[in-house]
Amino acid sequence: MKKLSPVTGRVARMHGYVPGEQPAGGALIKLNTNENPYPPTPQVAEAVASEAAGAGLRLYPSPMADALREKAAQVYALSPAQVLVGNGSDDILAICLRACVSEGDEVAYTVPTYFVYRTLVDIAGARRVEIPYVPADDGRGSTAPQIVRLPDALVESGARVKFVCSPNSPLGYVVPLEEVARLAAASTGLVVADEAYGDFGEGSAIELLADHPNLLVARSFSKSYSLAGARLGLAFASPQLLAGLAKVKDSYNVSRFSLAAGVAALDDQDWMRGNVAKVKATRARTVAELRVKGWAVRESGANFIWIDCSAQGGKPVYDRLRARNVLVRWFDEPGLTDGIRVTIGTDEEMSTFLSAIAS
Ligand SMILES: Cc1ncc(COP(=O)(O)O)c(C=O)c1O
Repeated sequence: MKKLSPVTGRVARMHGYVPGEQPAGGALIKLNTNENPYPPTPQVAEAVASEAAGAGLRLYPSPMADALREKAAQVYALSPAQVLVGNGSDDILAICLRACVSEGDEVAYTVPTYFVYRTLVDIAGARRVEIPYVPADDGRGSTAPQIVRLPDALVESGARVKFVCSPNSPLGYVVPLEEVARLAAASTGLVVADEAYGDFGEGSAIELLADHPNLLVARSFSKSYSLAGARLGLAFASPQLLAGLAKVKDSYNVSRFSLAAGVAALDDQDWMRGNVAKVKATRARTVAELRVKGWAVRESGANFIWIDCSAQGGKPVYDRLRARNVLVRWFDEPGLTDGIRVTIGTDEEMSTFLSAIAS
């Protein structure tokens, strides 16, 4: 008897999220998934080794990641009850929808943005309210696209959850905190400020938390802390909101190794800041050189840049770079096919990228 797939209904119909390629081997210069080109603080390796040497893996990790919560509370001047730890910030985003959205509810965000939001909404059987929004930026540095006003359609929507991604992926623009505050004040549901790239920009919506009990700030260890492989993210919000979210997280959502790595990484802020400063300096140089060569490059507050390729087409540029061993990100998505997103690597990697794109 022919058996039907047990995966049915909306999950059978939906498209899963397609992550950026993680090629095996090290032949390619990898500028496609916004990882940090520099290693994490050496304290991370020491902490993970000492975790492995101890009773460590025989026992479950702390369900609420207590040591990491406490460390994060100290670093961000909050209380531990205002911190929730996730298995990557993707886990935090998923927890938010699991807790706050039922089938048929609306979830709103501007597009283009991080594509995981769309997948999470589809998994929940909720309704996507996608508001097209591309801030003006001529790519030559002569406009001020970092000053962005959120569209009223987003602010005024009655959605159960709204995402605001700042710095935005994939375009790189930054949403000012006054706008995040305006959004939170006008919204009855949850507002998630996704600050996965927050350390590469200025300020944080964390400072708005005291005035907005419906606001949650999601941050990642994958970018500024160079820990993409550890899968660690943080949520900052009111204790009441986080207590609700904690009910729907996996009981032991973060491994002992990752918790040890996270505490060590937070403990060395100078290391993280040093790497962020290097990436920002390389970003400035890369943008300047590309513009001199005639490319239009958006202003970016993140560790990547968006390059307009409308004259050549994004895919041909992606293919030609790949043929020269440089892997960037091209999105086969409406409105994005005419550009590429390029992660900022080391100075040396970006020199190779610049010669590859020039040829
Ligand atoms: C905007 C945005 N949010 C969240 C994430 C997820 O990061 P994490 O590795 O912490 O799950 C990413 C990863 O690329 C991202 O670009």
